Amino acid sequence: MMQALSAADAGKLAAALCAVELVEDGMRLGLGTGSTAAWMVRCLAHRAKREGMRLTCVPTSTRTGTLARVLGLNVVTLEEAGQLDVTIDGADEFDPQFRLIKGGGGAHLQEKIVAAASDRMVVITDPSKEVAQLGAFPLPVEITPFGQSVTRARIEAVLAGAAVARRDARLRLVDGKPFVTDEGNLTVDLFLDRIDAPEALDTALLAIPGVVETGLFLGICDTVVIGHPDGRAELRRKGAEPETRRMDLSVVASLPAG
Ligand code: A5P
Repeated sequence: MMQALSAADAGKLAAALCAVELVEDGMRLGLGTGSTAAWMVRCLAHRAKREGMRLTCVPTSTRTGTLARVLGLNVVTLEEAGQLDVTIDGADEFDPQFRLIKGGGGAHLQEKIVAAASDRMVVITDPSKEVAQLGAFPLPVEITPFGQSVTRARIEAVLAGAAVARRDARLRLVDGKPFVTDEGNLTVDLFLDRIDAPEALDTALLAIPGVVETGLFLGICDTVVIGHPDGRAELRRKGAEPETRRMDLSVVASLPAG
């Protein structure tokens, strides 16, 4: 019997299946973080086992690494893998130039390092994350705990002069306590509503001592896969005509547990 899938999960599964079709035997892969990426890891493990593929996988968070290992994928560090062929990851927003906001799950530092070490970055997503202009999703900025109040004040000073629609910086809390990243850092979420000049904002934020990384992924992603609940996956590649593929969602019954 086919596992009941919510519309949201069906779209994520369609995107994940389509992205996994792009993987070839022998590839070195970056594995993203988040709920869509978790579907991709399950689909990848299923295909790798079924086809006896030899893959080398670098996770972008502790939780993705744990899932990939449990499902039998060959997990190594980025140092061991070196340059990667492709990273497949989710996103919180993407615009027509394939610029992204990531880090809703708090893993954008590792995600960006791994994606930047890859020849290609494929983003798996759903239609709701496509925006004309970035900024509706709060922009995560990872900062060191040391000097955090000074760093936050400097972030606010940058926002005062930035081309954004709103200027509200909040320390991310979980259960009333500061959220701590895999690297032991903190996250400040910037509620900006609209970012008119993402490159300029990114440059200004990264120039602040204590800012480790932003969730802006600019010029990194070259492919976006948009999954739909009916199993369609729109494949958009830079410099190529978009295509639509139809995924068989009934495969969900054969996937290893997430
Ligand atoms: C993790 O830090 C994020 O960058 C995720 O990739 C992003 O939040 C997308 O997550 P979902 O697939 O769960 O929406």
